[in-house]
Amino acid sequence: MKILSGLDVSKALRIEIKEKVVALKTSGKKTPHLAAILVGNDGASMTYVAAKEKDCQEVGFNSTVLKFDASISEVDLIKEVIKINDNPDIDGLIVQLPLPKHISEKKITETISYKKDVDGFHPMNVGMMFKGIKTFLPATPFGIIKMLAYYNIETAGKHCVIIGRSDIVGKPMSALMLQQNCTVTVCHSKTPDVSVFTKQADIIIAAVGLPNYLTGEMVKEDAVVIDVGITRVADASNKNGYKLVGDVHFESVAPKCSWITPVPGGVGPMTRVGLLLNTLEAINSK
Ligand code: GUN
Repeated sequence: MKILSGLDVSKALRIEIKEKVVALKTSGKKTPHLAAILVGNDGASMTYVAAKEKDCQEVGFNSTVLKFDASISEVDLIKEVIKINDNPDIDGLIVQLPLPKHISEKKITETISYKKDVDGFHPMNVGMMFKGIKTFLPATPFGIIKMLAYYNIETAGKHCVIIGRSDIVGKPMSALMLQQNCTVTVCHSKTPDVSVFTKQADIIIAAVGLPNYLTGEMVKEDAVVIDVGITRVADASNKNGYKLVGDVHFESVAPKCSWITPVPGGVGPMTRVGLLLNTLEAINSK
């Protein structure tokens, strides 16, 4: 069993991004600039946005975080998004989800200019992705594709089973693995027996959000297993008071695998670098 280290791959990709930013700056071109909108004070969202800001600084991008109270109206938030759409200095915009219940995530996502939509959530970008037209890809599936390529994992003709059908991971992942010439099966909460499919899978991508969901008996020998899960589970021994637990029961699954991602240090760092790659690309999309 070998480890697919998102930490190692993301380090290598960040070095490449940094070099490209230096080249942009020295040739007098624009420095990529990411804006993030954060509404309210959800702990996980605040952590994610702070991490994105730190990542931008580390590779030499400019970054702006706009924070709004949870009581902001939908109309006012739409106005803020439009201001950023119209600001030529900002190349990429993300609105951190989830949003408060009184704000439609669909409306906000559709208000972001698809040319600045570095999350790849706008229907225009989703459509282009499904057609295989080059565009912004959602960061997690993008990061996973980059990781598979880095380790030369064979995908053509392989059976890839994806567990989860979210707009952010499962659905886009299925389109991208099809483009990698996999035979793709998508399992979800209404699939009667997920193990029927996972036992046949050459590649499993677990994105259900249930800690330790995928166990050893659900996996065939030599499978490649990608764990997208990052559930926060209370842990008094950790200084944060929680630990991150994946969807894969590592102890029972890892011995059967050819390759497996750890949690943490697997998909998480790849998601972060996926957003940076999109932001770098965004300077060309206006
Ligand atoms: N909330 C959880 N994941 C994401 C993401 O990838 N982008 C945004 N904008 N919000 C999220």
